[in-house]
Amino acid sequence: MRWTDTQRAMLREMGIPPFWPEEAAPADELAQAPTPMPAMAEAPPHGQFVQAGAAVSVPMPSVAAAGAAPSAPLAPSPASARPATPRSNGATATSPSAKPVDVPLGPRPVGVETMGWPALREAVASCQACSLCQSRTQPVFGVGHEQAQWMIVGEAPGEQEDKQGEPFVGRAGQLLDRMLAALALTRSEADATQQVFIANVLKCRPPANRNPQPQEVAQCEPFLTRQIELVKPKVILAMGRFAVQSLLKSSEPIGKLRGKVHEVAGVPVIVTYHPAYLLRSPADKALAWDDLCLAREVMRSQG
Ligand code: URA
Repeated sequence: MRWTDTQRAMLREMGIPPFWPEEAAPADELAQAPTPMPAMAEAPPHGQFVQAGAAVSVPMPSVAAAGAAPSAPLAPSPASARPATPRSNGATATSPSAKPVDVPLGPRPVGVETMGWPALREAVASCQACSLCQSRTQPVFGVGHEQAQWMIVGEAPGEQEDKQGEPFVGRAGQLLDRMLAALALTRSEADATQQVFIANVLKCRPPANRNPQPQEVAQCEPFLTRQIELVKPKVILAMGRFAVQSLLKSSEPIGKLRGKVHEVAGVPVIVTYHPAYLLRSPADKALAWDDLCLAREVMRSQG
């Protein structure tokens, strides 16, 4: 497997040095080389389909047969790719230790489950189902192709997203864009095979970027469910703990859930790390690259 210059440049941008130069390893060696992935050691092989706690096999093309790039080698990121300081935006916090917050609730919008795009946008814009509507600048509905084949689900708007009304526009968003570019995907105008749809579990920013509270997630959930039904993606990338908990109803750690194909409403779901976590833990970008490759396999297996 030879990586194109573009792929190499993209992996480098993600902070994953494609350090096996073609001159150093023959092409078929690259395709077969096992990826040293300690965190994957207990995970089932790619191609397992997990629903309601049970894993069943689904036919999956091999990465090499599908012409995909091999899994990225686990290698320390170059110092230049590491963030100078860890991301402080707790909108993407992964610490389970944060204290629960008492959240005043309001009425949920009715009829979300049958809404089309315009009504759904309006319902999100006027939602008062929890107190986040009081502190937000604006809700962040989501962005991208309404019939996208790829859907990305994150956690909640942070400060920049709240200001700009678009998901993932801060530093984590810049990394997400580079991850997407590595798969030839984009949030910008393109056809449904290339332009993704990006949504968050919460449409409104939690104050001071605290963790989403379970009641907020529950109140907001119908919006994400309807977005998934309307987009009908071929694959969903669930990024981070809150996306995973909301979509899969699982409190298992990401490390245990990734490397498998899960399912929500008939749509395959691939679990991966949140880009903000990857900014803090760049060595895990290689694992995230594996997750992206698995998602691409799933997409290709659907034709
Ligand atoms: N983190 C998220 O999960 N979503 C955003 O929109 C921004 C940061």
